[in-house]
Amino acid sequence: MSRIFTRLASPSFLARSKSSTRSIPPSPSMDAVEIAETADTLHVRSHVQYNTPDHITPDNVLPSPLEQFHIWFNEARHAGVREPDAMCLSTATASGIPSSRMVLFKQLDKHGFVFYTNYTSRKSKELEENPNAALLFFWREMSRQVRVVGRAEKMSKEESEAYFKSRPIGSQLGAWASAQSSVIDEDILQTKVKETYERFGIAEDAQEGHVPLPQFWGGWRVIPSEMEFWLGKPSRLHDRVRYLRVEEPTSDGDPRWIINRLSP
Ligand SMILES: Cc1cc2nc3c(=O)[nH]c(=O)nc-3n(C[C@H](O)[C@H](O)[C@H](O)COP(=O)(O)O)c2cc1C
Repeated sequence: MSRIFTRLASPSFLARSKSSTRSIPPSPSMDAVEIAETADTLHVRSHVQYNTPDHITPDNVLPSPLEQFHIWFNEARHAGVREPDAMCLSTATASGIPSSRMVLFKQLDKHGFVFYTNYTSRKSKELEENPNAALLFFWREMSRQVRVVGRAEKMSKEESEAYFKSRPIGSQLGAWASAQSSVIDEDILQTKVKETYERFGIAEDAQEGHVPLPQFWGGWRVIPSEMEFWLGKPSRLHDRVRYLRVEEPTSDGDPRWIINRLSP
Protein backbone atom coordinates (compact mmCIF):
# COMPACT_ATOMS: atom_id res chain seq x y z
CA MET A 1 0.00 0.00 0.00
CA SER A 2 1.44 3.38 -0.92
CA ARG A 3 1.87 5.86 1.88
CA ILE A 4 2.16 9.63 1.78
CA PHE A 5 4.58 10.89 4.36
CA THR A 6 3.97 14.24 5.97
CA ARG A 7 5.81 16.22 8.62
CA LEU A 8 2.71 17.64 10.28
CA ALA A 9 0.10 14.93 10.18
CA SER A 10 -1.68 14.16 13.40
CA PRO A 11 -2.47 10.46 13.64
CA SER A 12 -6.21 10.12 14.09
CA PHE A 13 -6.11 6.92 16.10
CA LEU A 14 -3.76 8.63 18.57
CA ALA A 15 -5.89 11.78 18.65
CA ARG A 16 -8.88 9.63 19.58
CA SER A 17 -7.06 8.03 22.48
CA LYS A 18 -7.85 9.27 25.98
CA SER A 19 -4.26 10.16 26.75
CA SER A 20 -3.75 12.64 23.93
CA THR A 21 -6.63 15.05 24.39
CA ARG A 22 -4.21 17.94 25.03
CA SER A 23 -2.59 19.48 21.97
CA ILE A 24 1.18 19.14 21.99
CA PRO A 25 3.08 21.83 20.05
CA PRO A 26 5.43 20.39 17.45
CA SER A 27 9.01 20.44 18.61
CA PRO A 28 11.82 21.53 16.22
CA SER A 29 13.15 17.98 16.19
CA MET A 30 9.91 16.80 14.56
CA ASP A 31 11.41 17.99 11.25
CA ALA A 32 13.70 15.00 11.45
CA VAL A 33 10.78 12.61 11.35
CA GLU A 34 7.89 12.22 8.93
CA ILE A 35 4.81 10.20 9.55
CA ALA A 36 2.14 8.62 7.38
CA GLU A 37 -1.14 7.12 8.44
CA THR A 38 -3.10 4.24 7.07
CA ALA A 39 -6.41 3.22 8.62
CA ASP A 40 -4.89 1.65 11.67
CA THR A 41 -1.13 2.18 11.47
CA LEU A 42 1.28 5.03 12.02
CA HIS A 43 4.35 4.80 9.79
CA VAL A 44 7.45 6.75 10.74
CA ARG A 45 10.35 7.74 8.49
CA SER A 46 13.52 9.20 9.99
CA HIS A 47 15.75 11.69 8.19
CA VAL A 48 18.35 11.77 10.92
CA GLN A 49 21.77 11.09 9.44
CA TYR A 50 24.60 10.30 11.82
CA ASN A 51 27.91 11.70 10.77
CA THR A 52 30.41 11.71 13.57
CA PRO A 53 33.94 12.70 12.51
CA ASP A 54 35.63 10.28 14.90
CA HIS A 55 36.15 6.62 14.28
CA ILE A 56 36.47 3.63 16.60
CA THR A 57 38.13 0.33 15.84
CA PRO A 58 39.40 -2.51 18.03
CA ASP A 59 42.85 -0.92 17.59
CA ASN A 60 42.09 2.52 18.94
CA VAL A 61 40.02 1.62 22.02
CA LEU A 62 41.42 0.84 25.48
CA PRO A 63 41.92 -2.81 26.51
CA SER A 64 39.30 -2.42 29.29
CA PRO A 65 35.73 -1.46 28.31
CA LEU A 66 35.24 0.13 31.74
CA GLU A 67 38.14 2.49 31.09
CA GLN A 68 36.85 3.13 27.57
CA PHE A 69 33.44 3.95 29.07
CA HIS A 70 35.05 6.34 31.54
CA ILE A 71 36.55 8.30 28.62
CA TRP A 72 33.30 8.33 26.63
CA PHE A 73 31.28 9.37 29.68
CA ASN A 74 33.56 12.35 30.30
CA GLU A 75 33.37 13.27 26.62
CA ALA A 76 29.57 13.13 26.81
CA ARG A 77 29.58 15.44 29.83
CA HIS A 78 31.86 17.92 28.12
CA ALA A 79 29.92 17.76 24.86
CA GLY A 80 26.85 19.05 26.71
CA VAL A 81 24.84 15.83 26.54
CA ARG A 82 21.69 16.32 28.62
CA GLU A 83 21.52 13.64 31.33
CA PRO A 84 24.50 11.55 30.18
CA ASP A 85 23.90 9.51 33.35
CA ALA A 86 20.44 8.33 32.22
CA MET A 87 20.52 4.69 31.16
CA CYS A 88 17.95 2.15 30.12
CA LEU A 89 17.96 -0.93 32.37
CA SER A 90 16.48 -4.15 31.03
CA THR A 91 15.63 -7.06 33.28
CA ALA A 92 13.64 -10.25 32.77
CA THR A 93 11.59 -12.64 34.85
CA ALA A 94 12.83 -16.17 35.50
CA SER A 95 10.81 -17.29 32.47
CA GLY A 96 12.45 -14.64 30.29
CA ILE A 97 9.72 -11.97 29.98
CA PRO A 98 11.69 -8.74 29.60
CA SER A 99 11.02 -5.20 30.79
CA SER A 100 12.97 -1.96 30.48
CA ARG A 101 13.00 1.39 32.22
CA MET A 102 15.35 4.33 32.70
CA VAL A 103 17.51 4.64 35.82
CA LEU A 104 20.40 6.90 36.78
CA PHE A 105 23.95 5.62 36.65
CA LYS A 106 25.60 6.50 39.96
CA GLN A 107 28.99 4.86 40.10
CA LEU A 108 31.56 3.10 37.96
CA ASP A 109 34.26 1.08 39.65
CA LYS A 110 36.54 -1.72 38.53
CA HIS A 111 33.63 -4.18 38.85
CA GLY A 112 30.82 -2.39 37.04
CA PHE A 113 27.92 0.05 36.93
CA VAL A 114 25.83 1.00 39.97
CA PHE A 115 22.27 2.34 40.23
CA TYR A 116 19.93 2.72 43.21
CA THR A 117 16.32 1.77 43.61
CA ASN A 118 13.64 0.18 45.75
CA TYR A 119 14.38 -3.50 46.45
CA THR A 120 10.67 -4.41 46.25
CA SER A 121 10.19 -2.77 42.83
CA ARG A 122 9.49 -4.77 39.69
CA LYS A 123 13.08 -4.40 38.47
CA SER A 124 14.49 -5.62 41.79
CA LYS A 125 12.10 -8.58 41.96
CA GLU A 126 13.13 -9.54 38.44
CA LEU A 127 16.84 -9.21 39.30
CA GLU A 128 16.32 -11.38 42.40
CA GLU A 129 14.90 -14.20 40.28
CA ASN A 130 17.08 -13.59 37.22
CA PRO A 131 20.30 -11.59 37.72
CA ASN A 132 20.91 -11.14 33.96
CA ALA A 133 20.62 -7.47 33.08
CA ALA A 134 21.38 -5.07 30.25
CA LEU A 135 22.09 -1.35 30.34
CA LEU A 136 21.99 1.08 27.47
CA PHE A 137 23.30 4.63 27.28
CA PHE A 138 22.24 6.77 24.31
CA TRP A 139 24.02 10.08 23.90
CA ARG A 140 22.04 11.61 21.06
CA GLU A 141 24.08 14.81 20.81
CA MET A 142 27.18 12.71 20.05
CA SER A 143 25.50 9.93 18.04
CA ARG A 144 26.89 7.38 20.47
CA GLN A 145 25.44 4.47 22.37
CA VAL A 146 26.99 2.03 24.81
CA ARG A 147 25.54 -1.39 25.53
CA VAL A 148 26.34 -3.32 28.71
CA VAL A 149 25.28 -6.93 29.33
CA GLY A 150 26.02 -8.63 32.62
CA ARG A 151 24.88 -9.90 35.96
CA ALA A 152 23.51 -7.76 38.75
CA GLU A 153 24.34 -8.08 42.41
CA LYS A 154 23.21 -6.06 45.40
CA MET A 155 25.49 -3.42 46.87
CA SER A 156 26.43 -3.82 50.53
CA LYS A 157 24.26 -2.07 53.12
CA GLU A 158 27.21 0.22 53.97
CA GLU A 159 27.60 1.32 50.32
CA SER A 160 23.85 1.94 50.00
CA GLU A 161 23.81 3.84 53.29
CA ALA A 162 26.65 6.11 52.16
CA TYR A 163 24.80 6.95 48.94
CA PHE A 164 21.40 7.33 50.65
CA LYS A 165 22.86 9.91 53.05
CA SER A 166 24.06 12.00 50.09
CA ARG A 167 20.53 12.34 48.66
CA PRO A 168 18.39 15.46 49.27
CA ILE A 169 16.10 15.01 52.27
CA GLY A 170 12.99 15.05 50.04
CA SER A 171 14.34 12.08 48.06
CA GLN A 172 15.24 10.20 51.25
CA LEU A 173 11.68 10.62 52.53
CA GLY A 174 10.26 9.80 49.10
CA ALA A 175 12.06 6.46 49.21
CA TRP A 176 10.36 5.69 52.55
CA ALA A 177 6.92 6.81 51.31
CA SER A 178 6.78 4.91 48.02
CA ALA A 179 6.28 1.16 47.69
CA GLN A 180 7.67 1.48 44.18
CA SER A 181 5.84 -0.42 41.40
CA SER A 182 2.75 -1.18 43.54
CA VAL A 183 -0.68 0.11 42.48
CA ILE A 184 -1.64 3.27 44.38
CA ASP A 185 -4.14 6.15 44.29
CA GLU A 186 -2.78 9.69 44.03
CA ASP A 187 -4.37 10.87 47.31
CA ILE A 188 -3.00 7.87 49.19
CA LEU A 189 0.52 8.65 47.95
CA GLN A 190 0.18 12.26 49.17
CA THR A 191 -1.06 11.03 52.56
CA LYS A 192 1.84 8.57 52.81
CA VAL A 193 4.35 11.33 52.00
CA LYS A 194 2.81 13.58 54.67
CA GLU A 195 2.84 10.75 57.23
CA THR A 196 6.49 10.03 56.44
CA TYR A 197 7.52 13.64 57.13
CA GLU A 198 5.59 13.52 60.41
CA ARG A 199 7.00 10.12 61.41
CA PHE A 200 10.57 11.40 61.14
CA GLY A 201 9.77 14.85 62.54
CA ILE A 202 10.91 16.64 59.36
CA ALA A 203 9.24 19.92 58.34
CA GLU A 204 7.65 19.80 54.87
CA ASP A 205 9.82 22.69 53.66
CA ALA A 206 13.05 21.25 55.14
CA GLN A 207 16.06 21.56 52.83
CA GLU A 208 18.39 19.42 54.90
CA GLY A 209 18.30 16.44 57.23
CA HIS A 210 18.81 12.72 57.36
CA VAL A 211 16.64 9.69 57.90
CA PRO A 212 17.86 6.07 58.09
CA LEU A 213 18.26 3.92 54.99
CA PRO A 214 15.06 1.89 54.49
CA GLN A 215 15.84 -1.83 54.54
CA PHE A 216 13.89 -2.12 51.26
CA TRP A 217 16.10 0.33 49.34
CA GLY A 218 19.65 0.21 47.97
CA GLY A 219 22.00 -0.26 45.06
CA TRP A 220 22.56 -2.83 42.36
CA ARG A 221 25.86 -3.29 40.55
CA VAL A 222 25.81 -4.66 36.99
CA ILE A 223 29.05 -6.54 36.33
CA PRO A 224 29.59 -6.64 32.57
CA SER A 225 30.42 -9.73 30.56
CA GLU A 226 29.90 -7.85 27.29
CA MET A 227 30.06 -4.21 26.25
CA GLU A 228 29.59 -2.49 22.92
CA PHE A 229 30.55 1.01 21.81
CA TRP A 230 28.55 2.41 18.87
CA LEU A 231 29.23 5.51 16.83
CA GLY A 232 26.75 6.80 14.23
CA LYS A 233 28.01 7.07 10.65
CA PRO A 234 26.41 8.09 7.33
CA SER A 235 24.14 5.67 5.46
CA ARG A 236 23.71 3.67 8.67
CA LEU A 237 27.22 2.21 8.25
CA HIS A 238 28.04 2.75 11.88
CA ASP A 239 31.15 1.87 13.86
CA ARG A 240 30.63 -0.90 16.40
CA VAL A 241 33.26 -2.27 18.74
CA ARG A 242 32.36 -5.15 21.05
CA TYR A 243 34.20 -6.44 24.11
CA LEU A 244 33.51 -10.00 25.31
CA ARG A 245 34.91 -11.08 28.67
CA VAL A 246 36.79 -14.37 28.62
CA GLU A 247 36.63 -16.77 31.56
CA GLU A 248 40.35 -16.66 32.30
CA PRO A 249 41.39 -13.38 34.03
CA THR A 250 44.82 -11.77 33.59
CA SER A 251 47.66 -12.67 35.99
CA ASP A 252 46.64 -9.57 38.03
CA GLY A 253 43.11 -10.96 38.41
CA ASP A 254 41.61 -8.33 36.10
CA PRO A 255 39.07 -9.40 33.50
CA ARG A 256 40.46 -10.26 30.07
CA TRP A 257 38.54 -9.07 27.02
CA ILE A 258 38.30 -10.08 23.35
CA ILE A 259 37.66 -7.02 21.19
CA ASN A 260 35.97 -7.22 17.77
CA ARG A 261 34.46 -4.92 15.21
CA LEU A 262 30.82 -5.77 14.41
CA SER A 263 28.88 -5.19 11.20
CA PRO A 264 26.65 -2.16 11.46
C1 LIG B 1 15.80 9.65 33.39
C2 LIG B 1 15.16 8.77 34.44
C3 LIG B 1 15.92 8.35 35.51
C4 LIG B 1 15.38 7.51 36.47
N1 LIG B 1 16.18 7.08 37.49
C5 LIG B 1 15.71 6.18 38.37
C6 LIG B 1 16.58 5.61 39.35
O1 LIG B 1 17.79 5.90 39.41
N2 LIG B 1 16.07 4.69 40.20
C7 LIG B 1 14.74 4.31 40.15
O2 LIG B 1 14.34 3.48 40.95
N3 LIG B 1 13.90 4.82 39.23
C8 LIG B 1 14.34 5.74 38.33
N4 LIG B 1 13.51 6.24 37.36
C9 LIG B 1 12.11 5.74 37.31
C10 LIG B 1 12.11 4.39 36.58
O3 LIG B 1 12.20 4.58 35.17
C11 LIG B 1 10.88 3.51 36.88
O4 LIG B 1 9.69 4.22 36.63
C12 LIG B 1 10.85 3.04 38.33
O5 LIG B 1 12.13 2.72 38.81
C13 LIG B 1 9.95 1.82 38.49
O6 LIG B 1 10.41 0.78 37.63
P1 LIG B 1 9.98 -0.75 37.81
O7 LIG B 1 8.51 -0.74 38.17
O8 LIG B 1 10.25 -1.39 36.50
O9 LIG B 1 10.81 -1.32 38.91
C14 LIG B 1 14.02 7.10 36.39
C15 LIG B 1 13.25 7.54 35.30
C16 LIG B 1 13.81 8.36 34.35
C17 LIG B 1 12.97 8.79 33.17
